Amino acid sequence: MTKEKKTTEMGIFERIGSLAKRRGFIYPGSEIYGGLAGTWDYGPLGAELKRNIKNEFWRTMVQGRDDVVGMDAAIMMNPKVWEASGHTQSFSDPLVECKKCHSRFRADEIGVSDFKGEVPKDIACSKCGAHDWTPPRQFNLMVEARLGAVEDSKQTIFLRGEITQGVHVNFRNVLDSTRVRIPFGVAQVGKAFRNEITPGDLTFRSREFEQMELQFYTRPDEKESMRWFEYWKKERMGWYRSLGMREENLQFKEHAKDELAHYARAAFDIQYQADMKWWEMEGIHHRGDWDVRRHAEYSKQDLSYFDEETKERFLPHIVETSGGVDRSALFFLMDAYREEAVKEGETRTVLKLHPKLAPMKAAVFPLLSNKPALVDLARSVYHNLKNEWMIAWDDRGNIGKRYRAQDEAGTPFCITIDFDSIEKNDVTVRDRDTMEQERIAIPELPAYIREKLS
Ligand code: GAP
Repeated sequence: MTKEKKTTEMGIFERIGSLAKRRGFIYPGSEIYGGLAGTWDYGPLGAELKRNIKNEFWRTMVQGRDDVVGMDAAIMMNPKVWEASGHTQSFSDPLVECKKCHSRFRADEIGVSDFKGEVPKDIACSKCGAHDWTPPRQFNLMVEARLGAVEDSKQTIFLRGEITQGVHVNFRNVLDSTRVRIPFGVAQVGKAFRNEITPGDLTFRSREFEQMELQFYTRPDEKESMRWFEYWKKERMGWYRSLGMREENLQFKEHAKDELAHYARAAFDIQYQADMKWWEMEGIHHRGDWDVRRHAEYSKQDLSYFDEETKERFLPHIVETSGGVDRSALFFLMDAYREEAVKEGETRTVLKLHPKLAPMKAAVFPLLSNKPALVDLARSVYHNLKNEWMIAWDDRGNIGKRYRAQDEAGTPFCITIDFDSIEKNDVTVRDRDTMEQERIAIPELPAYIREKLS
């Protein structure tokens, strides 16, 4: 029998992986068939967490602004898009292969930064220990698919490697169909696909994942576009902080010239600290006029912008903010994760997620499940709150156990209906973070929760 690892022996990735599976946040993709590397399925709580992250992104980046509109482009695009964007040629990672066991690694994973030379002989394969490597070669990350009903005429297309291009190919459409004028942005949320050489670290490096992006068009003036670049850096860092991410776990990391993606002139990552390492969570890129210029060239369409005030015609510059929904979900979970001593010899695991991100805003419990008067009153409280929020119901086990389960789910409030509730029309509300309890009149409950959530 294998000995189960105690939580105290696990690193944060393992702890989150275990909690995510146990509570229904994240499951390995296609698990009953042995899985599919780099794919993940979100369970009931994970789906809510992701939905809340995307809603908050949309609320602050689109709904709350006059200068940003939203879009939802197709995943499958004409393959010429990817030629124009440079992805078929340059969207690659350097790959090395162990000649003995044929395991493949990204060159940087085994500590090789000179992607043109040979792999130094002193580097051993972590799988079999051999020292015999192929030289690094560029491995394209685009995922291919075959489209069409007739076998012979099937067309090879790519699943989008970034959600970005769906916005840029519609630059003219957005200008012609809305009232936006430069400077303005187009935001989008959606799936992207990459044939990652070594997916891993839970959802951090997946082959299918979601991005939340803004493409912000500015005048092609270096000073002005850099001003917007700095502006969006600050906004995006502020967004993570406003949703409760701890200051000490966030930092910017500038890309050196030789680290820049093929489209970028300048780039900063917003990084999150976990397990004594810094991990990329979002990229802020100055894309110059790369995308509109290339699409204008390849499609032979006029994608220039005419400024009515100055009577100038130009190709705009683009400042991009590109965050990962899955990565931020992972890091929001890590940041919220605590193991706390409750009393002598007893600890609790709690996710102190920002209430806006918490999958369930409250849980309703009848004190006893075999007393119809309690259950009926609890049901009516539950249904009333459910009109407005995601609310959990639990009538099993003792109250202490129910609290622990909701702590692990990150539910900010637990509402218990007891015998006093029937007489006084009030309930006990227990706060997830302080574990303090107060009596609240049932008619006041929606206002109470609304205030706490704002
Ligand atoms: N449009 C620009 C772009 O796609 P990127 O730095 O390649 O830039 C942006 O990706 C973000 O997408 C990353 O910061 C990360 O959050 C997320 N991301 C990228 N590759 C990912 C992967 N394999 N798995 C999960 N998230 C990923």
